[in-house]
Amino acid sequence: MADDGKRRWKGPKGKPRSSSGRQLGARKTVAHNAASESSKRWIERQLADPYVRDAKAAGYRSRAAFKLLEIDEKASLLRPGQRVVDLGCAPGGWLQVALEKKAFEVAGIDLLAVDPMAGAHIVEGDINSPDDVARMMAGLTGPPDLVLSDMAANTTGHKSTDHLRTVALVEMALEFALEHLGPGGGFVSKVFQGGATRDVLGTLKTRFETVRHVKPPASRAGSPEIYVIGRGFRGG
Ligand SMILES: C[S@@+](CC[C@H](N)C(=O)[O-])C[C@H]1O[C@@H](n2cnc3c(N)ncnc32)[C@H](O)[C@@H]1O
Repeated sequence: MADDGKRRWKGPKGKPRSSSGRQLGARKTVAHNAASESSKRWIERQLADPYVRDAKAAGYRSRAAFKLLEIDEKASLLRPGQRVVDLGCAPGGWLQVALEKKAFEVAGIDLLAVDPMAGAHIVEGDINSPDDVARMMAGLTGPPDLVLSDMAANTTGHKSTDHLRTVALVEMALEFALEHLGPGGGFVSKVFQGGATRDVLGTLKTRFETVRHVKPPASRAGSPEIYVIGRGFRGG
């Protein structure tokens, strides 16, 4: 366990959680048991997941790497020589794929600390913070050709709150892309449920030549996650 005081990626939805700490009464015990149960389920699912095994064998930091590879297989977005930005990059699977595809420059940002990766400029920060975004953009010598966002908020279990938080992240990713992408550039963002909201989709359709949704096979069938792809950015 890291002891440098930094938050680190601990698996989907921040699990497994710490089981340490005093029990302060029945409510805490119930919450604690529920957390242990869901941690147990998460560990069981990880052990049974062939993508987790394959990611380990291939040296990827996350199974998410396969999602980007599959998205790319369908949409051919990653090309040698590109400048790529990865929003919500921890622990770094997508960064690895971008580098493997011979990106010229790769910059990433995450709320969580990410272990350094040769060839990638990684910033621990928030996409909402202009200072953090500026620190990340300092890693590129020009506008990105591709903006990727796999950002996800920790879920609360409250459906409409979780939905709003996810929509907000997609809007932030799109706002970033519209401000920074070079003409002709591409955009990929994780969205949930039926796909991008009407507002996001409307903006994408006016600012990009083509827009489509992709559900990569590595994305769990039961998960509401899907990816929206915009290609051919029409410029600012
Ligand atoms: C599913 S993970 C990304 C996995 C990554 N694509 C990979 O291949 O390893 C989603 C990440 O989004 C990050 N995130 C959520 N909100 C964010 C924000 N406001 N700014 C930066 N990162 C954020 C989370 O910290 C989390 O690490």
